[in-house]
Amino acid sequence: MSGTTVLARGDFDPALVAAVTRATEAAARAAGAWFGRGDKDAADGAAVAAMRAALVNAPFDGTVVIGEGEKDAAPMLANGERLGAGNSPRCDVAVDPLDGTRLTAEGLPGSISVIALAPADTMFDPLDVFYMDKIVAGPVGIGVLDLRRSATQNLEAYAIAAGIPVGELVVVVLDKPRHESLIAEIRAARATVRLVGEGDVLAAVAAASAGSDVDLVLGIGGTPEGIVAACAVRALGGFMQGRLAPQSDEQLAMAIAAGHDTNRILELDDLVASDRVLFVSTAVT
Ligand code: FBP
Repeated sequence: MSGTTVLARGDFDPALVAAVTRATEAAARAAGAWFGRGDKDAADGAAVAAMRAALVNAPFDGTVVIGEGEKDAAPMLANGERLGAGNSPRCDVAVDPLDGTRLTAEGLPGSISVIALAPADTMFDPLDVFYMDKIVAGPVGIGVLDLRRSATQNLEAYAIAAGIPVGELVVVVLDKPRHESLIAEIRAARATVRLVGEGDVLAAVAAASAGSDVDLVLGIGGTPEGIVAACAVRALGGFMQGRLAPQSDEQLAMAIAAGHDTNRILELDDLVASDRVLFVSTAVT
């Protein structure tokens, strides 16, 4: 199937890579059958079922750490669910069987099916926190960007490090009301804002990839998608930071009850604490 991207860092058994690839392709095909039919839960459910079935006999002992779907009660692979035939290697698994459910349901481009693997106990568990503030870029961002600084400061620092004017930077931001002032700030700095309705995993892969036409991703997206993206960024050698971003008092209370520090800057190594990562995605739409 065309439209599959495999990013691997470290050694992975080719049979495992093939099995994971079959799983994202099966999920993408299943979700694709719902293209433009206006039913995002059906598209998501079909992707989840196809991915789960395809991973049953995969040659690994996987535990789902990032199952996605909790924030909107969508169909999901449950956190803690075991996947694979049970033989080594032991892996943490982050899945997003369909990132861009609404895009698929509405017949729009940009949705993907994704699986990421890393050694057991290396992925950050964002238990009970659904949103994360993120900054993603290629290797030029390392030691240059910092979520504690304003968007303007980051754009200026990045432009100097990359040797290009701020006015030539392209920044992907999710098109959400919560980003109104962020978008205004990036535009005031004269960088180009590329708004996407959904799908910040794909945007993160683009930002971290050499030679792409995206320089940075800024703004708040899903926490599970943040961990999935971190695996891709790690495989690509790019830069990423995150900070948990509860979107209501209720979400903040849940985050605190779960023991999170919502001020903490999560470096790439906190998001996935291993250089051995596998990220596979297949385009759905
Ligand atoms: P799903 O299709 O998996 O629901 O996620 C789409 C998505 O756009 C993610 O890429 C992003 O991280 C998240 O939703 C943002 O959440 P929200 O749409 O609630 O702002």
